[in-house]
Amino acid sequence: MKKRTLVGVDVGTTKVCSVVARMEQEDFRVSGVGVSPSTGLKKGVVVNLTETIESVKRSLDQAEQEAQVGVDSVFVSLGGVHVQGLNRSGKTDIRSKNGEIDKEDISRALADARSIQLPGDYEIIHMLTQGFTVDGQGHTKDPLGLVGRRLSVNLHLVLNAAAALQNVVNAVNKAGVGVKGVVMQQLASAEAVLTDDEKELGVILLDIGGGTTDFAFYRLGSIWESAVLPIGGDLVTKDIAIGLKVTLEEAERLKKDQGTVFPERVDSEAVIEIREIGTGRPRSLLYQDLCRVIQARCREILLEVRKLVDEVPMRREMLTGVVLTGGGALLDGLAEQAEEILEMPARVGYPAPMESEKELAFDPSHATVLGLLRYAVQMHGTGSGNGVGTMSPEPAGARWGGLMNWFFRKIT
Ligand SMILES: Nc1ncnc2c1ncn2[C@@H]1O[C@H](COP(=O)(O)OP(=O)(O)OP(=O)(O)O)[C@@H](O)[C@H]1O
Ligand SMILES: [Mg+2]
Repeated sequence: MKKRTLVGVDVGTTKVCSVVARMEQEDFRVSGVGVSPSTGLKKGVVVNLTETIESVKRSLDQAEQEAQVGVDSVFVSLGGVHVQGLNRSGKTDIRSKNGEIDKEDISRALADARSIQLPGDYEIIHMLTQGFTVDGQGHTKDPLGLVGRRLSVNLHLVLNAAAALQNVVNAVNKAGVGVKGVVMQQLASAEAVLTDDEKELGVILLDIGGGTTDFAFYRLGSIWESAVLPIGGDLVTKDIAIGLKVTLEEAERLKKDQGTVFPERVDSEAVIEIREIGTGRPRSLLYQDLCRVIQARCREILLEVRKLVDEVPMRREMLTGVVLTGGGALLDGLAEQAEEILEMPARVGYPAPMESEKELAFDPSHATVLGLLRYAVQMHGTGSGNGVGTMSPEPAGARWGGLMNWFFRKIT
């Protein structure tokens, strides 16, 4: 069996991460990873093309070298404050004489659902089928062949500002590779850290990155809400730098090495040594002061998430709670604070173990790129289905070709 190469690139606000995998049928093994600091993005949006190209190049070079392959095209995760999710429904009469639903009925229902007037500068990047009902009854992912008079469908559409999408694609192209497809960050991360049961029973995915916090709500195996908040772990770092008068670099180190969300749990007498910004003079501070700054900012971030949660009409169906991922989820105590503020169970989502040719350690900051590969494999491997992975309006159209057309199709 011929082995193929599959490559995912997560263009994040703090880092660009590339992963090369070798594919055999529906299985894949990671063979190379490259991580490079990202300086050309703000809140998930490209603001400096040259710097973004450089970061993508560096991370891809590293991954290619490690995997000992040359890469010509990649899948890219898409985030940023312009990404928006919205739900739409569509319906159609079932036209066959015997009332059996055929592919054309399904296509018409989907076309009805996606016929919305978009703001001129936005385009649809995903059309995710939540489910169908026949004559208002039941909920099915596959209505083909069922008998009825009227078919309805619910979709979750993901939109992005066309220019923001184009800037990411341009940066990757100018780094020397083609873009096979783009996937919203939450969809990708969910593939890496959520279980099928969680998605079925109801769960929130929260990817806390450096610049943004990506939100998604899954139930009945599909995504029902998605949103991007322009806040993330970098705000915690900034608050530490300002509050403790240290450099951003030192603030980042303090946060990662000693930071915790609960000041009351650290020794009230304990001190930490820092170097004052500007003068470089050494100074001692109460350890609790560091933790207080962290606690306050994390509380603010989680209160913003709480607002989103409260706006979800099916809030009571978030039965399995919230899964925190992204690098920000590594902050000590954050999951516990999330339980208190969101009033639901919380856990930190580590990417599910993955076949790998090398000793590689993956943590929540790799969730998006690893999920991106899983997502791409699903699309390729199954080629159809209306659950997670369906991006095409046609249930059977989500093969590579359909996928590519769909990603870059201009919606008017
Ligand atoms: N051990 C740690 N403890 C606390 N915070 C951490 C830790 N490791 C990473 N972080 C924080 O996670 C954030 C980066 O997360 P991640 O790598 O997921 O972001 P990104 O994907 O580059 O950004 P975005 O998704 O917002 O575009 C930074 O704010 C960083 O400080
Ligand atoms: Mg990210």
